[in-house]
Amino acid sequence: MTAENAAPSQSSSKLPFAARNFHFEAGKERFWYNNDPAVSAYFNALSALFPAGETFFCDSVRALRHEAKDPKLQAEIKEFLAQEAIHSREHHLYNKRISGFGYPMEKLEQRSADMQKIGYMLPKKVQLGFTAALEHYTTIISDCLLNVREHFRAHVSPKDYEFWIWHCVEETEHKSVAFDLLKSTTSPLSFYLIRVFSLFATTLGFNAILMWHIWTLLKVDGLQWNLRAWGRILHYQWVFPGAWRVCAPAWLAWLKPGFHPWQHDNRDLVDAWKKEGGEAKATNAA
Ligand SMILES: [Fe+2]
Ligand SMILES: [Fe+2]
Repeated sequence: MTAENAAPSQSSSKLPFAARNFHFEAGKERFWYNNDPAVSAYFNALSALFPAGETFFCDSVRALRHEAKDPKLQAEIKEFLAQEAIHSREHHLYNKRISGFGYPMEKLEQRSADMQKIGYMLPKKVQLGFTAALEHYTTIISDCLLNVREHFRAHVSPKDYEFWIWHCVEETEHKSVAFDLLKSTTSPLSFYLIRVFSLFATTLGFNAILMWHIWTLLKVDGLQWNLRAWGRILHYQWVFPGAWRVCAPAWLAWLKPGFHPWQHDNRDLVDAWKKEGGEAKATNAA
């Protein structure tokens, strides 16, 4: 096949990436975020979502990977599956450590898995749409955290920093894989309708279960009705760093018909992590 008649690439990723089989030791303190039970609960609630959520991401991509014709996209799918499987494993181990402080992380993981069962009942392409939309969500939150990583570093231990920032970096690296797979396996109209529906459905579902998880975790410390605790969480989400506020334009950008995750080119954030020795540190944490 000549260069002129070669099929266009199905992948629009701007960043080569490979899975890193790291092990972490984060979550060794009860109120590990700035000695604050509220913001610690917010991050722990996120972590409780990941093992089941990332297993769902892998299952939905695996179910349709055979339809991708482009070797570049196939290679990215392989690394995506490996990265998400390692994230799932490391968050499960992290959750077990948090359980040691009396928090019902196992129950929350089970609740997340039960909610995920609804997703598994949907058609395969809608499942992939959910994955692409949730990947968008995790990507834009990761972008925010990576941009304020010095603030995050100042409030957590080095081991907690390594763990959360590593996950944000890898979410950035593979941000277009599920999107490109869905795009390459659906008609333009279906692609648009599935991803718009998926973004609204997953935004609602994700935030509802996140808040339920936070409430359950705060209850352990008797803070579930504490307005100051909730105020600190809402401040963290909406004011500073304010991922929910900062990410609103990026969330909306998904609705543009010609949207692609790499239209926001944030490779510099991955580079910055590598330059500060993130890869080496994460390897040493093994
Ligand atoms: Fe992940
Ligand atoms: Fe991901």
